[in-house]
Amino acid sequence: MDIGIDKMAFATTNYYLDLVDLAKARKVDPNKYLIGIGQSKQAVVPASQDVVTIGAAAAEKLLTPALKKEITSVLVATESGIDNSKAVATYIQHLLGLSAFVRVAEIKQACYGGTAALMMARGLVAANPQEKVLVIASDIARYGLNTPGEVTQGAGAVAMIVSSHPHVLKLGQTSVAYSRDIMDFWRPLYSENAMVDGHYSTQVFIDFFKNCFSHYQQQTGCQLADFSAILTHLPFTKMATKGLNGLLGERQDEVATTLRQSLKASQVYSRIVGNLYTGSLYLGLLSYLENGQPKSGELIGLFSYGSGAAGEFFTARLVDGYQDYINDVRTDLAKRQQVSVSQYEKMFKQQLGLQNADVTFDISHDHSRFVLTGQKNHQRQYQRR
Ligand code: HMG
Repeated sequence: MDIGIDKMAFATTNYYLDLVDLAKARKVDPNKYLIGIGQSKQAVVPASQDVVTIGAAAAEKLLTPALKKEITSVLVATESGIDNSKAVATYIQHLLGLSAFVRVAEIKQACYGGTAALMMARGLVAANPQEKVLVIASDIARYGLNTPGEVTQGAGAVAMIVSSHPHVLKLGQTSVAYSRDIMDFWRPLYSENAMVDGHYSTQVFIDFFKNCFSHYQQQTGCQLADFSAILTHLPFTKMATKGLNGLLGERQDEVATTLRQSLKASQVYSRIVGNLYTGSLYLGLLSYLENGQPKSGELIGLFSYGSGAAGEFFTARLVDGYQDYINDVRTDLAKRQQVSVSQYEKMFKQQLGLQNADVTFDISHDHSRFVLTGQKNHQRQYQRR
């Protein structure tokens, strides 16, 4: 039985910040952001959006009325959770109007959570081929104003249907997971922003990637030449370039050129959205499918990394006709509105965050399908339009 990704869609907020503006405001050479980090824009999140609304928006793009009735489980991966008990998936199930006869849960392990959810979905489908699992990886990457991580912030969600008749990718049998208890990036319960040992985290990313890939090679005998693309988690685009260079070394042959070109195609959207934590690898995959030169049947390698830390290298084969089962990310991104640094800073501070008071947000400027209207009696209030 082939199990894999049947449909994919991406959603982000309606606003973005140009990082040249941010560089000027932070008195940094813009080339540090544009070239050194490899980011040129980042998604900005208004108070009326959170991981529930963005995740629901991504899922809505791929659901038809018939498919809604077929969903058996909703797994939401996030590290920007809004409640310590209740799962984001319960809110999304309600907002999407899914049947009550579905399994809902939230999955966490930093940016690796999306892959953990995908692997669990695969297990559910393997146990029962009738299952159609809605996997949503939804996050808001927040490091704080004036921090080294600020340039790598972003937000968005990728929704996927995992089934036994996949129209986008068939997942390979072998994958290598690798985990260690380390402190490269974390967010204590009392903090709205991530804490990070930035330079250490980049080294751990490269080490995990090398470990996972070499172990995968030992198990399968696979060579770099077998892959048309090896895509990685994208906390910022330069990180993925460094990661792949860690595998390729000084190689400049045809194989290395193909893999570098494929990676470049995977970085196009990430460069203008920023880090979306759990969904970043999958936005990179959509970017590769829309901006690269993928061919049906080709083998794609995927390296997922989540701080703390967990990594996994897995593979998938591209299915013929996949184009009809992914949403047009480029067109969606072109509709976003630019904000100034002061508007971005205002929105950043307006987020509901950890406050416990009743709040009502002005939603008149937010034309999204799903909005967070505020908080009442310690309960988040959502609206579907
Ligand atoms: P920094 O100290 O501000 O930057 O932090 P830097 O001084 O290291 O410079 C960055 C690069 O810009 C360097 O290039 C400079 O040479 C270059 P590199 O040596 O790395 O190739 N540079 C310039 N280039 C051109 N023109 C210039 C110029 N000036 C400097 N004028 C850091 C950078 C990434 C550490 C920081 O932004 C950070 O902490 N980011 C957040 C952490 C992160 O993203 N880590 C990635 C690995 S961990 C991960 O992926 C998991 C994660 O997604 C979380 C999760 O799992 O949930 C983060």
